[in-house]
Amino acid sequence: MSQFPFDAVVFDLDGTVFDAEEGITSSVACAMDKMGLPVPEKTDLRMVVGPPLRDSFRELLQVPEERIEEAVQNYLEDFLYKGRFRYRVFPGMRQLLHVLKNCGIHVALASSKPQKTCQLILHDFAMDHLFDVIMGEGMGKDKLGKPELIRRALPEKYRRAVMVGDRKFDVEGAKEAGIESIGVSFGCGSVIELETAGADYVVHDADALQKLLCPDAETPRGWFITMEGPDGSGKTTQANLLEKSLVQYGFDVHRTREPGGCPISEEIRRIILSKDNMEMSPVCEALLYAASRAQHVSEVIRPGVEKGRVVFSDRFVDSSVAYQGGGRQLGVKLVQQINAPAVDGMLPEATVYLDIDHQQAIRRRFSASEPDRLELAGDAFHQRVEAAYQELLAQGDQRFIRVDASRDIDSIAKDVLTKVLARLEPEWKQEA
Ligand code: TYD
Repeated sequence: MSQFPFDAVVFDLDGTVFDAEEGITSSVACAMDKMGLPVPEKTDLRMVVGPPLRDSFRELLQVPEERIEEAVQNYLEDFLYKGRFRYRVFPGMRQLLHVLKNCGIHVALASSKPQKTCQLILHDFAMDHLFDVIMGEGMGKDKLGKPELIRRALPEKYRRAVMVGDRKFDVEGAKEAGIESIGVSFGCGSVIELETAGADYVVHDADALQKLLCPDAETPRGWFITMEGPDGSGKTTQANLLEKSLVQYGFDVHRTREPGGCPISEEIRRIILSKDNMEMSPVCEALLYAASRAQHVSEVIRPGVEKGRVVFSDRFVDSSVAYQGGGRQLGVKLVQQINAPAVDGMLPEATVYLDIDHQQAIRRRFSASEPDRLELAGDAFHQRVEAAYQELLAQGDQRFIRVDASRDIDSIAKDVLTKVLARLEPEWKQEA
């Protein structure tokens, strides 16, 4: 028997697991506009998140009865192509779902959205594997209703179950299904709405929710991921896009960079990259990179991963292997020896390598902005850097994710995200 207060937890989708406001309200506004009906103010549109869609069009938006199906169709069209990509996982919810799963608690979903849409959204966000049961409504007009959805989401036998939701419909549904309820105030319903409906508890963030559901549960270890590539490979652009997506997907991301990432290491960065230091010897350069890395690992990377965060670094030790080992011809072995105490066993779980011919890359780089000391090092240098990277990749280390970086920004970003998600959520089946 589970030692936790509840052995079954049923979640609502919109406003509870996901911040769905922008996705839903933009599609509702689009549907109203398309039919030539008045589009309410953004704040008034909030109330459509939660209740069944037809009810919202009928009661909240006063759509005439004979036009309700047309409104629903217009909504669905916009939602499938645009709205659902504006969803965001609420901070802390992904980690909470992982913790519940690790604790062996039954985790289910009961939503007024059509079953297929629930599955699609959870799959898109690489979260479907975190639920034991996904219960959504049918597509037609006959609806099961929240209480029945909750009943069906529960396991055959349970000791104590709870519904987590952001609206009175969730609280009332839980009561009717005979289970307790926790209202979350970060969704679309207010604390007053939840309390008036009779919520057993109201919490304000995922941390408080975790304390109620599984106090003292261990925080799972986070991840360390890195991005590498020659100068001009588009690394900064891709790192920005990946960071943005991971945050949208509910990962607790700490973005950092090398050289740098914390005050001491940023000071060392300034010395390394300064064009006043053109006479710096290759060994001095390698030791400075390693010194900055040692501080970065102990002050930022290791503590972040231990707290369960996704520490995402723009460059790490592979850059030293490629630039100082290959580019400066110090040799891979010496560079690895110098770096061993700095890395201190903290190797990334995944390293995205932006694969691009160094000449194409450096052309891109020089047309973008003023180059630094390393970037001014000449073609032979950059050729050796690329060769050293290719040698590293050829060794077949599974942590490397090779991505063709000669394509357009969006195709690369999509590829990077899907491949990184597969590493961060190994149990998620990419093909639905
Ligand atoms: P930066 O401005 O961060 O460039 P980029 O956007 O390409 O990462 O400068 C980092 C430079 O330092 C870059 O040219 C690669 C180089 N470098 C090394 O030579 N060795 C290393 O260990 C690291 C981390 C970076």
